[in-house]
Amino acid sequence: MADTIKISVQPLATKLASTAVMFVGESFEVSPAVPGLKDAAKVIKRHAAIEDFKGKSQSVLVITGAPELSVDRLIVIGLGKIGMDKPTDGKASDEKPMDFVTLGGLAAGKLKGGSASIIAAKGTENFSATEVAEINLGLRMRNYSFDKYRTKKKPEDEKKPLSVALLTADVAGAKKAITSNDAIAEGINIARNLVNEPPNVLNPAAFAKQASQLSALGVKITVLDEKAMTKLGMRALLAVGQGSENESKVVIMEWQGAKSAKTQPLAFVGKGVTFDTGGISIKPAGGMEDMKGDMAGAACVTGLMHALAGRKAKVNAIGVIGLVENMPDGKAQRPGDIVTSMSGQTIEIINTDAEGRLVLADILWHTQAAFKPQFMVNLATLTGAVLVALGQDHAGLFSNNDKLSDQITAVGKKTGERVWRMPLDPAYDKIIDSKFADVKNSGGRYAGSITAAQFLQRFVNDCPWAHLDIAGTGMASNQTEINKSWGSGWGVRLLNQLVADHYEDK
Ligand code: BES
Ligand code: MN
Ligand code: ZN
Repeated sequence: MADTIKISVQPLATKLASTAVMFVGESFEVSPAVPGLKDAAKVIKRHAAIEDFKGKSQSVLVITGAPELSVDRLIVIGLGKIGMDKPTDGKASDEKPMDFVTLGGLAAGKLKGGSASIIAAKGTENFSATEVAEINLGLRMRNYSFDKYRTKKKPEDEKKPLSVALLTADVAGAKKAITSNDAIAEGINIARNLVNEPPNVLNPAAFAKQASQLSALGVKITVLDEKAMTKLGMRALLAVGQGSENESKVVIMEWQGAKSAKTQPLAFVGKGVTFDTGGISIKPAGGMEDMKGDMAGAACVTGLMHALAGRKAKVNAIGVIGLVENMPDGKAQRPGDIVTSMSGQTIEIINTDAEGRLVLADILWHTQAAFKPQFMVNLATLTGAVLVALGQDHAGLFSNNDKLSDQITAVGKKTGERVWRMPLDPAYDKIIDSKFADVKNSGGRYAGSITAAQFLQRFVNDCPWAHLDIAGTGMASNQTEINKSWGSGWGVRLLNQLVADHYEDK
């Protein structure tokens, strides 16, 4: 990944570049520790009156050519009344909660290449090392673009290299926090790249090759080819790929970072359908190109493993991704086929477009059997129905474990990757009972996301497990201050935070 942004950390007293970014509350206080901004408060007040800028949270004022300033361009970003205090629950506030990642994104959105200084303080209140690192993450997330396939770029789309100095009171602390945050930013951008790549380039073998590069960070990589999968009995997964010219692959990524090699690992499992035509139950043509993103779950798992290994997380973690292409063909599976999964359960294929659950059935089963993990979290662009239920602002969460479910919900509020728990209930099982086999792969329109989750649950055995249906959040994503990409990298921060908050050795 060619990074067009360079970020350094320097003391507050460093001479400012030609562009500076500063943060103010509603009284426009200016840091006394920054020379060159002595008269800034006066200038901001003058311009704020004209532009009706009140310093409200996440509002922006751009001042150019002010004779009293030592910079050509001053970007003023409002922090609102609450300053750096997070609003407490139950207290009504008209302010958005302070989110330093978003502040970094806002800043990057205003920088157009060249050099800039960002002053990590609000008046005399200095941002903490963590907060500075979050700004760094936001800068990197916003600066991402995917334009490698454009041979003709308009001048306004041309990305100029950007060099940013983060000016802070705690240089050493911020540098340390940024090192680990850089790994997270890389993980997110790796996931985005994988989702954005076209399906002729990123087939299962190419994806496996990308994931294998994690070995450079000390991740142990195992790639299962079709022969190895046949031996293990992964016939549900293999059935999905049998209509494709591209060989199916499973990649297992193992990170040993805990103090003891014996600590049970955490397992992250991803659906990696590199293209989903629907197979014989073929999808309509309109929008089918979006199905290149049907591997967003696997992309997230790969990006997460990069983040964990890159920041040397003190945890044992396993990533398992099932990579297949779902194509219609003379060799493709048919509706009516019955396949035997690795678990031994038989599955009647009703709809070849309900392929993600077939892939996950075998890799979930394999993961719990082979690694005995503390838990499994799987991510999958599994159902269109989750878009009907939740739109693009929450992922669907299904779990057989309240503790794990509550932890994921809580970290989601922290990172802004929000999830909404939906029910699992034996009552839904009858919808997927098959006339001829143990289970069928589609229950029709009613409760489409729930019956898919109910199907997956039959393949997790007694392992604590959570399923995230990311069809609405992983691709064709919401545009925010920190995401302008089609493939969002959704879930990398979420699961990294889950690990950091609850599962790392101290
Ligand atoms: N990959 C799709 C789900 C999807 C839809 C992802 C929209 C992203 C955006 C999945 O394989 C699929 O086709 N699901 C079917 C299931 C049905 C046949 C039971 C669906 O949602 O229609
Ligand atoms: Mn499908
Ligand atoms: Zn699919």
